[in-house]
Amino acid sequence: MNVEIDSESGFCFGVVNAIKLAEQSLGERGCVFSLGDIVHNGLEMERLEGLGLRTIAHGNLTASMQGETVLVRAHGEPPQTYEAAAEAGIEVIDATCPVVAKLQRTVAAAHARMTERGGQVVILGKRGHAEVVGLTGQARGGAEVIVVEGENDLNTVDFERPIYFLSQTTQSLELFGRISDELMRRAHDAEEVTVHDTICRAVASREGRLGEFAKRHDVVVFVSGRKSSNGRLLFEVCREANPHSYMVEGADDMQPEWFAGARSVGVCGATSTPKWVMESVARAVGVHDGR
Ligand code: F3S
Repeated sequence: MNVEIDSESGFCFGVVNAIKLAEQSLGERGCVFSLGDIVHNGLEMERLEGLGLRTIAHGNLTASMQGETVLVRAHGEPPQTYEAAAEAGIEVIDATCPVVAKLQRTVAAAHARMTERGGQVVILGKRGHAEVVGLTGQARGGAEVIVVEGENDLNTVDFERPIYFLSQTTQSLELFGRISDELMRRAHDAEEVTVHDTICRAVASREGRLGEFAKRHDVVVFVSGRKSSNGRLLFEVCREANPHSYMVEGADDMQPEWFAGARSVGVCGATSTPKWVMESVARAVGVHDGR
């Protein structure tokens, strides 16, 4: 049986950069705290915890952590987080992905513009996702910032007023296009709708190519942490292209019957999937095959 690992799956540069910064600071300090998981992958988190990384929640940013070091992960944080850390005397290592940092500035500018014009900012994103919390946090007072997850949420938008529409970096281009069309169609004045595509191409460019990869194989094993929103999105791409697609967190989740009669197996993953986990899954596929 032929087993191929997708050469373009795995960490995007934003996550590579955050992990590098974490490893570097762990090497210097021995113990570093991260606000939430640096990467939505349990196995990679276990590896980093072995190096001294500790995950904390926002409520921990108090004076009891004075002198400690906290890493802001690639998803970014709202300004309130930096303020709480400064007040508590906590050092911050900022691993916000440059693409997300730019988007935060874009949201702040869009919010200022909409406040001036009596409009609203609409963000396509997952409510409560760390990146989205960082984006909505750029707006304090003034125009509302409305998060929509799909067409069903559009009744929260006031179509009589100007709209500035943008997206969380990891959303689907297809959904963004559909929502933009709908906003234009329902707006009282389509000229008052600004559409700003802020989807990160490190993810978007993978969709089409991943579908081709999935079609090339009899069975596809998609490796991803279950908490990864990008993982769920890309897994759907695989499943649409090839119904014999299975999602696993690691080699232990695989079942031998998936591979019965398969001549070729493709192993791929999300932007938060480490290469070393895909490699161990690929080796285990060979074992399930009886070799
Ligand atoms: Fe950054 Fe894009 Fe990755 S926004 S964290 S490079 S998916």
